[in-house]
Amino acid sequence: TPNALRAREIAAAHAGMDGPLLPVLHAVQHALGHIPRETLAPMAEELDLSLAEIHGVISFYPDFRTEPGGRRMLKLCRAEACQAMGAEALGDELRARLGVDWHGTTADGAVTLEPVYCLGLCACGPAALVDETPVARATPERLERLAREVTG
Ligand code: FES
Repeated sequence: TPNALRAREIAAAHAGMDGPLLPVLHAVQHALGHIPRETLAPMAEELDLSLAEIHGVISFYPDFRTEPGGRRMLKLCRAEACQAMGAEALGDELRARLGVDWHGTTADGAVTLEPVYCLGLCACGPAALVDETPVARATPERLERLAREVTG
């Protein structure tokens, strides 16, 4: 498949370096938007690793995803300072509004909801990130609107 080919190229380009797996996984996710399952075997081959090793690393780091994400990534801070500002209730309401759990993507493919742990906006929590845009004192209405907003 084209994805597997692309992953093989990326892995081959990194094969000479020390500890190539993380940079390769980041590059594959960047190129393809996620790390499709069919890319694991070619990466394993090029890097001379077992599939189990690659699986282990992918599941250890929450930033890697093996399923395609939504068109927008909504990251909600669940760390302490934001918790104190109601992040837990905000998370509950958002999950209900979007009809997804953490790491889930809405049925229409519009939004993926991910937890994060501190965005450096602790003074104005609860904080969130819609794609690259930070949102301070987030409310469920505002986050849902931003996340579903269609850009030209
Ligand atoms: Fe949420 Fe720091 S604790 S931004």
